[in-house]
Amino acid sequence: VTDILTVLKKEHQEVSDLLDEALTCDGDDPKFAKLAQQIESALTIHAKLEEKLFYPRLLELAEPGEDKTDVFVAYTEHDVLKHLIALLKSEKRRDEAFKAELQVLGEDVKRHVKEEESTIFGLARKELSKERLEEIGEEFAAAKKQAVAA
Ligand SMILES: [Fe+2]
Repeated sequence: VTDILTVLKKEHQEVSDLLDEALTCDGDDPKFAKLAQQIESALTIHAKLEEKLFYPRLLELAEPGEDKTDVFVAYTEHDVLKHLIALLKSEKRRDEAFKAELQVLGEDVKRHVKEEESTIFGLARKELSKERLEEIGEEFAAAKKQAVAA
């Protein structure tokens, strides 16, 4: 059984590796199109499932004040993920400015991931039991399987 924090950490690493690889390609490199598509689908599913299965549980349990704010911050930072997804879907890929945008948004996404792994994971460890973290991990893995197959 894998707990949700381990599941998310693994996904973060995968997306981060794909981003690094994409940044080494030019927009018109055929390899890039494939990477862009992989990042786009990985991020779309990841953000959607976090917002459905992970953040709401924390929001419910977090104490009012700083802890709740931290969860809202994470939700807000997901807007950056959505910008990146939109950029990858767009035709902008052949644009001169594209690489700069990819770099900036990629860095923002990585910063969010780092924040999440410290603040949000810390909150999860505080509010959720080991068993609960494992249950959510299983739920996440099952929902992901379905999303990938869809
Ligand atoms: Fe995440």
